[in-house]
Amino acid sequence: MDATTRSTPALDLADNDKRGGWERFVKVFHIVGARPNFMKVAPVLSALRAHQRVIQTLVHTGQHYDANMSDVFFEQLGIPAPDVNLAVGSGSHARQTAEIMMRFEPVVLEAKPDLVLVYGDVNSTVATALVCAKLGVRVGHVEAGLRSFDRTMPEEINRLVTDQLSDVLFTPSEDGDSNLQREGIAAEKIFRVGNVMIDSLLKLLPVARQQQRNGLPERYAVVTLHRPANVDDSATLKSILQSLVDVNRDLAVVFPAHPRTRQRIAEFGLKADQLRVIDPLPYVDFLGLQSRAQVVITDSGGIQEETTYLGVPCLTLRENTERPITVSLGTNVLVGRDPEKLRAELARVLAGKHKKGTIPPLWDGRAGERIAQVIAG
Ligand code: UD1
Repeated sequence: MDATTRSTPALDLADNDKRGGWERFVKVFHIVGARPNFMKVAPVLSALRAHQRVIQTLVHTGQHYDANMSDVFFEQLGIPAPDVNLAVGSGSHARQTAEIMMRFEPVVLEAKPDLVLVYGDVNSTVATALVCAKLGVRVGHVEAGLRSFDRTMPEEINRLVTDQLSDVLFTPSEDGDSNLQREGIAAEKIFRVGNVMIDSLLKLLPVARQQQRNGLPERYAVVTLHRPANVDDSATLKSILQSLVDVNRDLAVVFPAHPRTRQRIAEFGLKADQLRVIDPLPYVDFLGLQSRAQVVITDSGGIQEETTYLGVPCLTLRENTERPITVSLGTNVLVGRDPEKLRAELARVLAGKHKKGTIPPLWDGRAGERIAQVIAG
C-alpha cells in the first residue's frame, strides 16, 4: 500500500518529549554527503518548509567537496547552505565512515534532533544512521528497500545496514516494500512515497531543456562511469574504454568524467582521447544533456531512473541493478561488461528498435510532499 492510500497517522514523534528534546517543535536533521544525495534532499527540505512546527537542519558530511561535485548542485537545486559541514573528505571506506561517525556524534548529542533523515546508499548515509541508532535518535531512510543482491557493491552493504537501523523507511517503488518485509522490517514502518529524484527532475527539466547545445553534435551518446567494479581495475577499465571508442564510431561519445575515473585513467596510463571527456556537469546541464541524448551508457543508479523518466534508452554497464523497475517498466537494459551485448543493444537503439518503457507509479513529482506528510502530518 502506498503512503497516499494508507490511513496511517503522521509519524508519532510525541514521545520525544520524554527525552527532553522538544515541546512544540520537531527538529529534523537532513544528512547529505555525496552528489546523488543533493537532488534527493531538495524536494524534502522544500516540502517540510510548509510545516511550521518543523525546524530543519542540513548537515553536509563533506564526502564530496569539489565545487562541481557539490556547491553547484546546491545553487541549482535551491538548497540552502549547510548548517553544519563535517568536512570529512576522501578516504578508504572504513576511514571515511569512521570519520563521519566521530564528527557527527557530538553534533547529535548537542542538538538532540527528533528525527534524522538519511538519503540513498552512500557512506554518509550508513555512518550517520549508525550514530543515531546507538544514541536512540530516530532515523528515517529516504530511498529505502532497494537491493542489487550483490554484496560486492559497497552501496549494497550501506543499504542493508541503513534499512535495519531505520525507524521509518520511505520507498520509491513496490519492490522496495517487498525487500524490506522479506528482511523482517515491520510493515508499519514502511511508507511507499515514490521517487524523490524525479521531484527534482520535474522541477528543473523545463530549464534544462532551454540549454544551448554548446557545440555538441545533433546525435550523441552520454557516458558516465565511476563504480569501483568498473574503474578500479586497469584491465576492466581498458576494455570498457575500448568499447566506448567503438561506440564513438557510430555516435559521438560525450563523457563527463567523475574524478575517481579520471584519476584511474591517468594512473593506469590509459587513453580516452577520441571521446569527448569533460568535467562533471552541474545538475541542470547534465539533465539537458541526457534529455537530448540518443542513448545513455552508465553505471550510475540515479541515471537509470532519470533516463526511464525521460524515455531515453539506457544501457547499464552492470550485471545487476537495485532499481529493477527501470528494467521491467522503463528504458533500462543491463549489458554488464560484455562488449558484444553493448554493441548489439546500441545497434537496436540506432535502428530505433530500443525499449520504449513507461513511467513507474508515484514518480510524479510529489514524493517530497508525501514524506513531509508522514513526518509532520
Ligand atoms: C560515492 C558513492 C556512490 C555514488 C557516488 C556518486 C559511496 C560508497 N559511494 O562514490 O554510491 O554513486 O558517490 O558520485 O558512498 N573525489 C574528488 N572530489 C570529490 C569527491 C571525490 O576528487 O568531490 C575523488 C577522491 O579521490 C575520492 C574518489 O573521488 O577518493 C571517490 O570518492 P568517494 O566519495 O570515496 O566515492 P565515489 O566514487 O564518489
